[in-house]
Parts: sequence; C-alpha cells; structure tokens
Amino acid sequence: MKADVLLGLQWGDEGKGKIVDVLTSKYDIIARFQGGPNAGHTLEFDGIKHVLHTIPSGIFHKGSMNIIGNGVVIDPVIFENEINEIDKLDVEMSDLLISKKAHLILPTHKLLDAASEKAKGKNKIGSTLKGIGPTYMDKTGRNGLRIGDISDKNFTEKYEKLKNKHIQILNFYDFDYKLNELEEKWFDSLETLKRFPHIESEHFMHKAIKDGKKILAEGAQGTLLDIDFGSYPFVTSSNTITAGACTGLGIAPNKIGEVIGIFKAYCTRVGSGPFPSELFDEIGVRLAKIGNEFGSTTGRARRCGWIDLPALKYAININGVTQLNMMKADVLSGLETINVCTHYMLDGNKIDYLPFEDNENLTPIYTKLKGWDKDLMHISSLDEAPQEVHDYIAYLEKELETPISIVSVGPDRKQTFFR
Ligand code: GDP
Ligand code: IMO
Ligand code: MG
Repeated sequence: MKADVLLGLQWGDEGKGKIVDVLTSKYDIIARFQGGPNAGHTLEFDGIKHVLHTIPSGIFHKGSMNIIGNGVVIDPVIFENEINEIDKLDVEMSDLLISKKAHLILPTHKLLDAASEKAKGKNKIGSTLKGIGPTYMDKTGRNGLRIGDISDKNFTEKYEKLKNKHIQILNFYDFDYKLNELEEKWFDSLETLKRFPHIESEHFMHKAIKDGKKILAEGAQGTLLDIDFGSYPFVTSSNTITAGACTGLGIAPNKIGEVIGIFKAYCTRVGSGPFPSELFDEIGVRLAKIGNEFGSTTGRARRCGWIDLPALKYAININGVTQLNMMKADVLSGLETINVCTHYMLDGNKIDYLPFEDNENLTPIYTKLKGWDKDLMHISSLDEAPQEVHDYIAYLEKELETPISIVSVGPDRKQTFFR
C-alpha cells in the first residue's frame, strides 16, 4: 500500500481542509506533514463551520486516525484552543497522535517573528506571526525543543536555555514585549498536549503502510510558498511540496501513491510577494467578495487574481501531481469572460515559466474563455453545469496535462463532485 498526498498548488488556502474532510472516509489515517498554526483549514458540514490549524482535517470522522507528523511545528497554546473549540461542537473527535519529533513553538519564537517583521518594514514577508520562521530556524540550527522533550526531567532547563538565547537576539531589535503572561499560558497548555499519545510516528507510518492501511498526507500552505521553490523570500519556512511528506512523516519516496493537487478556479494570495495575475479592478473586488476571501488564520483580506497556468504547471511538475481538484468554481459565476494567464512578458520577451529574477515585473498574457451565468452552488450534479464550465475544465485539463478528479462548488462537504 502507498500513501497519497494532498497539497496546495498556489499560495495556500486552496480548500485543502474541505477536500481532506471529504476524502477521509476513503482513508484510515490522515497525517499533517509540515507547517503549523500558520495554516487555517476550513471544514463545513451539517451546518457547522470549523477552522483547524494544527490538527489534521480528518478529525471529525470517527474511526479515522489523525497524526501530527515530525515535520509540523506546534504551538501548545493554539493546540489547546483548537481542542477546546472541537470540544464545544456536538461532534465526536477521532483519534489524534503526535510525533515526538515535532518541534515546539515557544512564546519567544512568536516574539522573534514579530520583531523580525517589524524590522523589515515595508519589505516584511506578511507572516502570520505564529512563530513559524524562528521555530524552523531553531530546528535547522539544531537548537529546537521537541514534543518528546516535554517528558524529559530537564525540560524546564532546556526551555530556559533556549528562551535566554532568544532574549539575547530580541535585544538586538527595537522591539518591546511582555513575556511572563505568555509563558504562563504556554506552560499550562502543555497539559493538553500531554493528553494525547506522543509516538514515534515514522515507525507508526511504516507499520501502517506494511499493514495495508490507507494513508492521506495533508499539506499546509501551497507550493508557491515552499521554502525552496516558492517566491522567496516571500514564502513560509517549510517544504510544502510532496517531498515534504517524505521528510515530514518518514515515508519513503517510493511509498508515495497518488498526489492530489488542489487549486482555486482563480488565484489568491495573502501576505506580501509577487503575484503576476493579481487583479486591481472591480473583478478582483468581486472575486474577493463572492469568494469570501479573508484569511482563515489572520482574517486578513486575500489578494485575488486570474488563474496562472505557468505557475500551476511548475507546481504540478515539482509535486508529481497525478490528479487535480478544482475549487471554488462557483465564485466565477456571472463573469462574461474568464481570463487564463498562459505566459508572462519579461523585458519584452514572452516566457512560459516563473523566472528567478524579477517576479514583481512579470506582465501576464491572457487567453479569454467564455464565462457562465448560472449559480453553481445549488446544482446537484456537474451535468447541470453550463457547457462553459465543462469547456473551462476541459481547457485546463488539456493545458495542465492532468485530469481534474474533483470540482468543488461551495464550502460544504456536499458541494463536491467527483468526475
Ligand atoms: P485551506 O487552507 O486550503 O484549507 O483553505 P481555507 O480553508 O483557508 O480557505 C478556503 C475557503 O474557501 C474556506 O473558507 C472554505 O470554506 C471555502 N471553500 C472551499 N471550497 C469552496 C468552494 O468550492 N466554493 C466556495 N465558495 N468556497 C469554498
Ligand atoms: P494554509 O495551510 C495562505 C503565508 C503568509 C505569509 C507567508 C509566510 O491555510 O493554506 P508564515 O506565517 O509561514 O511565516 O508566513 O506565508 N501563509 C499562508 N498563506 N495559507 C496558509 O496556510 C499560509 N501559511 C502561511 O501569509 O505571506
Ligand atoms: Mg487556509
């Protein structure tokens, strides 16, 4: 048995949470492999709307096993809030296991994130300020604290050592902070983390694969936010791509099966950085409004634009995508024409790839497709969709050379069509 991977092909918020929730009934295990509470994965079912940050999106399916893998970074305070929010719902939570090798976000990691962003001024990344960058820096710098350390008798000592190091770095910045209250909350919230089994998740995954269990690895963020292949430096600090599922769970590359790539029928980005097909006109405003494009984690307005094929092709290649899911087709309803970015102009030259240099100055070249009027949110099968929707799907499948296996027309579980 091989593990499937589901991940975002754009700048995040493609609808990963929704689809993982929809697909969970087909899997035994759902595992997050990277990122942390910078993620906001929205699920809607039975009139409930719920946002998850650290917890895998299979958590509402009884009988499923949810794993937070070694590649994830965890803020115990946010984790505790997530558990409390789930407890408030009248839904049974399925099993949740946490890798001992997952790294801990300390209160001072969050302060460092904020101090670094402040110092960058107008060049800031637009980080979610959840401490993601500083935590991964400590991981690669070999200073981090991990979930497995919590039960170490020297844990407080290790914590103090790292905290004091952070305080020294904070002294370099022009940045005021109060730590006491944050620390108190942080230590209290460790008790919630301790309620869940801490496991050697790579051994767990190996055995699961051997036993023929069906595994879905859930990505966070999107390919264009990947630390190596995204629009650096306006990226997150982890590998958001299929390879990240290998390092973030301990699954060997030859044990990866299907790679499901998710994209919006248009494109959004939250935070700073290049976005060649961004719209600054009334259509952009319309997409933001109809698509309710506000960050699930920070509430910030998402920038909106047309779908970008060179960027999607790049993401498909890097991830080895075997099937595509197209989200939010309903949001395009009512547009006379839909633009599809097929190339960019750079310094008078037409190019069909994202270049290393000058991503800020790419001018998109568009192909125009006929739009449709019909509201898609209430159709009960794709057969009820206008011909133009089918033409859009066929055009994208041809250009992207990959089948679109799911089309989503609304936030609810039920507004999902398999092809
Ligand atoms: P994720 O981070 O990839 O899980 O995506 P987010 O949850 O941050 O953002 C996706 C947003 O779009 C959420 O508010 C979803 O409820 C919503 N959504 C998902 N699929 C659809 C869809 O097909 N149509 C509409 N209108 N909304 C959708
Ligand atoms: P999900 O999983 C959209 C963006 C931030 C910022 C950059 C770096 O919900 O798709 P960070 O906090 O990682 O230092 O921020 O990455 N970003 C996301 N954008 N969806 C996300 O996650 C994101 N996680 C981080 O806005 O531009
Ligand atoms: Mg999101």
